[in-house]
Amino acid sequence: MLQTLIRPLMLAAFLALVSAPADARRELRFDAYAVPASGTIALAVAEGDDPGAVFAEIDAANAGALRRAVAAAAFQGKPNTQLDLPGIGRYDRVLLVGIGSGPVTPRVLEDVGGAVGQMAARSPAERIELLWAGTEPDAAAHLAFGADLGQYRFDTYRMPPTDMPVTGQGDLVIRTPAGAAAAERYRAQWQPVAEAVRFARDLVTEPGNVLYPEAFVERTRAAFRGVPGVSIEVLDVPAMQELGMGGILSVGQGSARPPRLLLVRYDGGTRGEPPLAFVGKGITFDTGGVSLKPNDGMWRMKTDMGGAAAVTGAVLALAARRAPVNAVAVAALAENMPSGMAARPGDVVRTAAGRTFEITSTDAEGRMVLVDALWYVQRQYRPRVVIDVATLTGAVVTALGDDYAGLFSRDDALAAQLTAAGEASGEAVWRLPLHPSYARDIQSPIADVRHSGGRGAGAGIGAHFIGTWVDEGVSWAHLDIAGMAWFEDSIQPTVPPGATAFGVRLLDRFVRDVHE
Ligand code: BES
Ligand code: ZN
Ligand code: MN
Repeated sequence: MLQTLIRPLMLAAFLALVSAPADARRELRFDAYAVPASGTIALAVAEGDDPGAVFAEIDAANAGALRRAVAAAAFQGKPNTQLDLPGIGRYDRVLLVGIGSGPVTPRVLEDVGGAVGQMAARSPAERIELLWAGTEPDAAAHLAFGADLGQYRFDTYRMPPTDMPVTGQGDLVIRTPAGAAAAERYRAQWQPVAEAVRFARDLVTEPGNVLYPEAFVERTRAAFRGVPGVSIEVLDVPAMQELGMGGILSVGQGSARPPRLLLVRYDGGTRGEPPLAFVGKGITFDTGGVSLKPNDGMWRMKTDMGGAAAVTGAVLALAARRAPVNAVAVAALAENMPSGMAARPGDVVRTAAGRTFEITSTDAEGRMVLVDALWYVQRQYRPRVVIDVATLTGAVVTALGDDYAGLFSRDDALAAQLTAAGEASGEAVWRLPLHPSYARDIQSPIADVRHSGGRGAGAGIGAHFIGTWVDEGVSWAHLDIAGMAWFEDSIQPTVPPGATAFGVRLLDRFVRDVHE
């Protein structure tokens, strides 16, 4: 009796501890355009003879200090370059962000914002002002979105510094003539996406001892609390056994932390219209199982739930900005551990769809959890579009590095839409083939299929295997994001080092452009 009382209390206390604010960050505000006389400021600088009106105005008021600094540093205003000038003219600090000479697209603006956001997160200044003379509300909203993303940090497990000034707190003000309209646009359209990115980054960053399948579910429930139009369904082990989900169960059986299948459904579109289905690989830690991985870099496998975080985050973005669509996120959650209960290479597993596969390596666990998730979402919702997102293979990292996620699809239109959404959002994808020969690679001597191939085309064969669980007539794409979930260095201003939440912005953009 006491046990049943104390357990939930302990769990609640623990959750309160682990969900303490992960990050101090600056409040983003909009204010009328004016050049401050002092303090810390940031501005965009164009490439070429004319660096822009804001630059000229500040330079004139500071006896040409900016022009001299720019010449001395050979700063040209090229895209994705910055010149950080502490103690210049009347200012504590001036950050110049290059925007090149091409069109000023939303991505360019987000990158400017991102650069300022990253600086703002490290700066002790109480107030940082980003000056933008453009009058377009939309442009200013994208600046703010970028600044929001660039500010991301994760301090949950650090002591507050005692020997250093506090950084990253106070205000980040965007000074623009676009004023209230920009603020409104940002709040309604982009702040929800930034929050969803933060949610996904936090999940990816959390270590495996904290973020196991049930913890992922609890975090998701907390994030969606109070968001209208959302319903959450969770399958536990008995429910999955009932449905015969041998794929996800065989991955989860080696761990003391039981697996879960989590579905987050958002209904914002036409009543009764089937939802877009986003299915994510959610391995909260991937040791490889009995086919144990080498220890070098194994810690990174805490990010092996990046696909699940991305799809859940994407639906959070859609729901929070009240997108006029129906969508469902499916997170296939399990921990891949070696133990006396763990699955072995050679095991034959029956999936919920009835088809069996033979395990070649227990380290190819992503596809095992995904096929049951795919079966379930197709049976429950009959979606016409299914996109799965997974940190599936090392092979895709070999092929594409950290510049592109691998995109696999038999639907040329869907592939083109995702490629365009990748370009626009800054989360780029590159299409790779699904050759018919992969069917031969997964022939098994004793089961319906073998779950990974012998030689070569590892990413494609993984994609092909997953695709064999997709129903006829369903438009399907697979995104292999193994190289994209975690960046050691910041490659883009909007993505500080660490968890990227790759997929949230891509899917949000895809929905905006194709389904709204
Ligand atoms: N989670 C890994 C893939 C991965 C590798 C993600 C590097 C991020 C960075 C996946 O579960 C895995 O181990 N895949 C195997 C598949 C193979 C056994 C068919 C791989 O890529 O080696
Ligand atoms: Zn994995
Ligand atoms: Mn693995």
